[in-house]
Amino acid sequence: MKISTPKERAAALRAQLDEANYRYHVLDEPNIPDAEYDARMRELEAIEAAHPDLRTPDSPTQRVGAAPSREFAEVRHALPMLSLANAFSDAEVEDFARRIRERLGRTDLEFSVEPKFDGLAISLRYENGMFVQGATRGDGETGEDVSANLRTIRSIPLRLRGKNWPRVLEVRGEVYMPRAGFEKYNEAARASGGKIKALVNPRNAAAGSLRQLDPRITARRPLAFFAYAVGQVEGGDLPATHSATMRRLRDWGFPVSHLIDTAVGVEGCLAYFRRIGLRRDALPFDIDGVVYKLDDLAAQRELGFVGRTPRWAVAHKFPAQEQTTTVEDIIVNIGRTGAATPAAKLKPVFVGGVTVTNATLHNADQVARLDVRIGDTVIVRRAGDVIPEVVGVVLDKRPAHTQAWQMPAHCPVCGSAIVCEEGEVVARCSGGLSCAAQRVQAIFHFASRRAMDIDGLGERYIENLCALDYVHSVADLYKLSISNLLEMKRLADERDGTTPETVKAGKIASRWAENLIAAIGASKRTTLDRFLYALGIPDVGEATAKALSRYFGALGALMQAAPEELMQVPDVGPIMAAHIATFFAEPHNRKAIAQLRAAGVTWPESEPQREAQGPLAGKTVVLTGTLTSLARDEAKERLEALGAKVSGSVSKKTGFVVAGSEAGSKLDKAQELGIEIWDEARLTEFLRAHE
Ligand code: IVH
Repeated sequence: MKISTPKERAAALRAQLDEANYRYHVLDEPNIPDAEYDARMRELEAIEAAHPDLRTPDSPTQRVGAAPSREFAEVRHALPMLSLANAFSDAEVEDFARRIRERLGRTDLEFSVEPKFDGLAISLRYENGMFVQGATRGDGETGEDVSANLRTIRSIPLRLRGKNWPRVLEVRGEVYMPRAGFEKYNEAARASGGKIKALVNPRNAAAGSLRQLDPRITARRPLAFFAYAVGQVEGGDLPATHSATMRRLRDWGFPVSHLIDTAVGVEGCLAYFRRIGLRRDALPFDIDGVVYKLDDLAAQRELGFVGRTPRWAVAHKFPAQEQTTTVEDIIVNIGRTGAATPAAKLKPVFVGGVTVTNATLHNADQVARLDVRIGDTVIVRRAGDVIPEVVGVVLDKRPAHTQAWQMPAHCPVCGSAIVCEEGEVVARCSGGLSCAAQRVQAIFHFASRRAMDIDGLGERYIENLCALDYVHSVADLYKLSISNLLEMKRLADERDGTTPETVKAGKIASRWAENLIAAIGASKRTTLDRFLYALGIPDVGEATAKALSRYFGALGALMQAAPEELMQVPDVGPIMAAHIATFFAEPHNRKAIAQLRAAGVTWPESEPQREAQGPLAGKTVVLTGTLTSLARDEAKERLEALGAKVSGSVSKKTGFVVAGSEAGSKLDKAQELGIEIWDEARLTEFLRAHE
């Protein structure tokens, strides 16, 4: 066997580590487990420590090496770093394409279509294939030398792969913080009890991290990079189109997003915009739009620039998901289980495509953490269908004489004490069903689509029915008459000042009342799992309701079950078992159930099914990494409802592993054992198909 010299061994380790980095960050196909990567890195560090002359500037050990600096040196960009014009509508995109057609006298336009990454633009300079300098955009002409910080980002190559690179190559792109890393960082910040400050959003986080004077701090921030353009090129040639250039950059070791595509004409661009828009919330990083770039580089040169923006590209923006506005009041909403949730009343603001006037503050801890006060200017976020939330306060704009907010001692609806149990984050109104707010929410939940599915019975109507004393409990819904509903509607309209006293309006109202009574009547024929879910037993979601219904088959058996027996049901732990048993032992709950059955609510009873059932029966599943579109608890619950056993560790018996982003050793182990691996998309697809 040939014994290698330290020099040879160091070179071999560097090649292996570079290859592993490229596989991981550029191809998205890791080839070695993290543990092995770390072991090789340590071996290389040891060789370099023993033989300092063997240490090279492009060695993967040299990513965090530089000492903190006092300030960043200025860098004059060889070619200015430009910005993009924005389009906010389809019509503006059409104008953009029309101007190009007119200038070029051509109709067949092909575009590179790309996500607009929401991070920070940087320029990376390579000479003879080695990374020599990296800079921020600055004012476009002059930026700051943040090379030491950029070296800490593992997806930025320190040395190019392949061959035939130009002698000088500047690559431009975006440094960003993946959402999973952002969440993880903030979790740690929250756990630090104020020692580490939480980051407001991934974009600010990326910018702030890159501007740290101490690269060791940057190294601890989970940053990543995507290339999307080239700057100066000397002593070498690049392909004739932008898309081919991007492929070339990928071969040279740069991460280029796999979402980048080509499209023909305005239709192709707009189709891409919609396609990416649908995926936006499920992506592992933030984007704020898409970018269209004319693909033909000769045509780009012909078109040139207006001011600082190219004529050949445009950013088509999604509606902003964050805006600033002011807090007019902080109120407390009481939920179905009494949870007192603080919410900010906001000066109306257009965000995420709708006008927002309320944003949740989640709980008192969150208000304290953010220190949101009445009068503050705040950043409000509304992403996709998620309820709007306050993510931060603009402290510079805080008016004088504001006061820290505190949870009120009494329920604003019923006046009962608001209590916070030891160790719980959630404060609750102690009024139970004597609190009108809890009653309204309980009835609203009972009637909701996935519960008893009473179409047309909104929260407002329930509030009014309760206020008029027509309804005290869910069973009262089945006693309502058409005249009760019309009376309620008339009083509600009167109060709102919208009483249309025409014959036609009267007819419409009667039809509305008839339909609602019919919907209430139709809801009586239901299923046991819907009924259980509708009861609103604390912690019992749809999946648990299904599991309970399958296990017991009949309500009587379930109502008599002791906690020990309840714990036999898949997915039911000791706390939930106690909640269920307590719920059914409560006399007023038993009475409500008896009244509902007397009112005619029925469902087919079935044989108890004690064996796990469903498409995943008998399969053990392991979840690892971060899932973006659903919480891990939810994924677990839904997999269990399909018969799976969800386990914490990978073994030969594991059926498959669901690997979210940043999956670590469990994924490695699964790969070693040759176990089937699902990504998040496959999981959500499967759940959708089988639920
Ligand atoms: S191209 C000449 N492509 O958007 C055009 N920019 O105002 C140079 N950005 O500061 C930029 N994603 O940080 C380009 N796929 C993409 C991009 C992108 C994000 C950012 C970039 C720049 C800003 C343009």
